[in-house]
Amino acid sequence: MASPQQTHPIDSRSADQLAAHSLQLRLVDTLDVAAHGDWLNADARGFHAALPHDEDLAQLASAVADRRTTGVFDATAKQPDTPVATVSSWSAELTVSPGRTVSAWAISSVTVAPTHRRRGIARALIEGELRTAAAMGHPLAALTVSESTIYERFGFGAAAFGTNWTIDTRRTGWAGHSASGRLHFVVAAHTRDELSAVFHRARLDVPGELQVWDGLWDTVLGLAPDLLDTEARSAAERGRSLRVVRYDDKSGVAQGFAIYSVSGGDPDFSAHQVDLRYLLAATDDAYSALWRFIVEMDLVTLVKATLLSVDEPLAWQLSDPRAATVTRDSHLWLRILDVVATLEARQFGTVQFGTAQFGAAVTIGLEVSDPLDFTTGRYLLEVDELGAGKVSRVNELPTHAAALTLGITELSSIYLGGVSSATLVRAGRVTEHRAGDAIAVDQLFRASRAPRLSVWF
Ligand SMILES: CC(C)(COP(=O)(O)OP(=O)(O)OC[C@H]1O[C@@H](n2cnc3c(N)ncnc32)[C@H](O)[C@@H]1OP(=O)(O)O)[C@@H](O)C(=O)NCCC(=O)NCCS
Repeated sequence: MASPQQTHPIDSRSADQLAAHSLQLRLVDTLDVAAHGDWLNADARGFHAALPHDEDLAQLASAVADRRTTGVFDATAKQPDTPVATVSSWSAELTVSPGRTVSAWAISSVTVAPTHRRRGIARALIEGELRTAAAMGHPLAALTVSESTIYERFGFGAAAFGTNWTIDTRRTGWAGHSASGRLHFVVAAHTRDELSAVFHRARLDVPGELQVWDGLWDTVLGLAPDLLDTEARSAAERGRSLRVVRYDDKSGVAQGFAIYSVSGGDPDFSAHQVDLRYLLAATDDAYSALWRFIVEMDLVTLVKATLLSVDEPLAWQLSDPRAATVTRDSHLWLRILDVVATLEARQFGTVQFGTAQFGAAVTIGLEVSDPLDFTTGRYLLEVDELGAGKVSRVNELPTHAAALTLGITELSSIYLGGVSSATLVRAGRVTEHRAGDAIAVDQLFRASRAPRLSVWF
């Protein structure tokens, strides 16, 4: 256990709460192959996934070896070395405005064994994670959720939404522009580093994207197992049906990838289905070329894709937009732990055109309540003409400021600019101090690009 995130002491409050139920909260040494293997198996079991093959465990373990890895142990269980609950966490940059990031505490692998459910174990784990994150100086926590009913009680709010697309390609053609570069089929095994490099460039443009771990690309490319897979696939079978296409711009620089599989075609060989596993585009040209390639594929009548943005240019590039059926789910959930640092990290809205600025300095008051009391208080956000925010804690909000009274869940939801505070006022979840205050807040928080997170973690 080397890094500070792995050696930071276990949260004593959660440890005491669990000890009162004869359970032990402890860190798992990810260099201890047996202990980490037991933890990974418990994680897979917690999500109803197949247990990994022994030969896959080492690869799975090394992909997440630098995470803070925590287990809850029951010495009276028949398998006392296998944790009855798991969580892992790590520090990762989250893009909050184009080119600007904040240090987020990413939380993953929250599982409690079905034999130990609803005794407050998850509550102890999550509250412990939030205290640990705050103690380590991370101004917000982030996670993706299996169910949208779990995390609001801890102050998390849905901040970026994902869309699932089903496109009937018999019904539509390509109506977008033609790109100037070209596509190449490439070998998955030689692609990981290039894919990772293009992603790290592209993620900085999109609020909501996270600095992901490199091992994730091995899973996306079918080179490593997926810990959440419900079928146990051998290394020989894995990834054989995946195809990888790279887009190079006209200078020959890789700017995007599409990773997909094709299935079906029985009994009608002209009617296959494409499952788009991942599409990455660092430029608009790459985006158009890769989508056009997917939409125009011969012998295919259906394309399915998940975790797309709520504002995909693709919607404007299909000759028949109604050929696409789109559903929406919450995807990235955020939990602000430090209002000052989190708000100051992002750029706020002004109109900029060439060298001209059309912004005005604006002051916003926020009266925040927090069920876990990390952030309860009144804050003044002063945004200058260039969109930079300065935040201070105050005893009273000045009467001249546009102001909202809201919970930390709601502030976490509006933070990236993908959720409107005016909508939350209409929903009865936020109170504006004067009519129109929420519209002023929305003008400042609005994001030029819809927040999106393209992966699960
Ligand atoms: C979800 C899960 C972690 C909850 O663990 P748990 O130890 O049973 O939860 P707790 O007993 O600590 O419950 C904490 C609170 O969350 C609520 N809760 C727990 N699971 C919930 C669920 N699935 N839906 C809605 N509320 C839930 C409890 O009612 C409790 O509420 P309260 O404290 O406000 O009264 C566990 O059921 C699990 O492992 N599920 C499968 C894996 C999974 O989905 N993990 C979440 C990954 S994002």
